[in-house]
Amino acid sequence: MTVDEAQAVARLREGGVVALPTETVYGLAGVFDREEAVEAIFRTKARPYFDPLIVHVLDVGQARPLVAEWPASVQALVERFWPGPLTVVLPKTERVSDRVTAGLPTVALRSPAHPVFRAVLRGVGKPLAAPSANRFGRTSPTAAGHVEREFDGRVPVVDGGTSEIGLESTVVAIEDGGVRVLRPGAVTEAMLRECLGSGVRVVHRTREDSPGHLEQHYQPEAPVWLVRTAEERRAHAGAAEMPLGDDPLLVARDLYGDLRRYSEAHPEGFVIRLDRRPNDGMWRAIRDRLERAASRP
Ligand code: TXA
Ligand code: MG
Repeated sequence: MTVDEAQAVARLREGGVVALPTETVYGLAGVFDREEAVEAIFRTKARPYFDPLIVHVLDVGQARPLVAEWPASVQALVERFWPGPLTVVLPKTERVSDRVTAGLPTVALRSPAHPVFRAVLRGVGKPLAAPSANRFGRTSPTAAGHVEREFDGRVPVVDGGTSEIGLESTVVAIEDGGVRVLRPGAVTEAMLRECLGSGVRVVHRTREDSPGHLEQHYQPEAPVWLVRTAEERRAHAGAAEMPLGDDPLLVARDLYGDLRRYSEAHPEGFVIRLDRRPNDGMWRAIRDRLERAASRP
C-alpha cells in the first residue's frame, strides 16, 4: 500500500509504522519513544530483540539530547557526513529506551539525506527509529516495490524512487582515541581517515562488536554462490551468473535489486564472480554484504 508524506506523518504520530525511502535503503520507521511503534517494527520484521535499531534524526540538535557524550571527533564526522550514510554509535541517555537499543548502553544515530525522509521527520517533529524495511536476515529494499513484495503489501510505504546509494549506512562506534567501523558503507575508511586526521585511529569491527550483524544476513530467496577462481566456477558449471560491473558505486546502487531479480529468475541458485575486486572503498561494503548473502550452511 503506497501512502503520501502527509499520510505517513499522520500514521507515525498515531504510533504506527511506515516504510520510508532513504538514500541508502528503505527503512521501516516508527517514532523512537512510542513503545507500540517500536514493538510493531520488531514484530513486522520478525527481528530478534537482541538487534538494536538506528534512530534517525533531522540534525545535531535532535541528536544531542539522546546521547550522553558528543566528542570532537563526532562533531567533525557529522559536520562532514550528515545528512548522509553515516551512523554513529554513542552512549545513550535515558530518553532512549532499552527496547530500541536492545539493552545496550549505546544508541546508533543517523541523519538521512533523502528529502522524503527529512520531510516526514519535520512533520513528525521527533526522531524515528528505522531498521531496513525487510524481513529479518533478508536483502534490504531499495525501491518501494521491494517493500510491497517483502510484506505482501501489508506495510504502508512512501515511494521515493530508487535508493541512490543502495547499501546500508556505514556504522561507526566512537572509542577513546578512535573510531571502529562496525559496518562498512559508502562513507569509506579513507574518507573517515581524511576527515579525522592522522591522530585518530580507524579500525574495523571484529565479530563481537555489532550485535545483530550476523554472518548470515542480507540473504536473497535463492542460494548465492560466490566464486573467486575458475575452479570454483566449474563447481557450479550449470548455474546462472549474475555479472558485477566495474564501477563500485553503480554495483552498490543496483546490487539488492539485481539480487532480487536473479532470485526470482533462478530460484535454484546463481553464481557471482568476485575475482579481481579490491577490498577497499565501496568494494569493501559490497564484499561484506555479498559474503553474508552467500554464507549458507
Ligand atoms: O542505511 C541504514 O543504516 C538503514 C537506513 C534505513 O537508515 N538502516 C539500517 O538499519 O540498515 P538496520 O537495523 O538494518 O541495521 C542497523 C545495524 C544493526 O544491525 C546493528 O548491528 C547496528 O546497526 N547497531 C544499531 N545500534 C547499535 C549499537 N548501539 N551498537 C552497535 N551496533 C548497533
Ligand atoms: Mg537490516
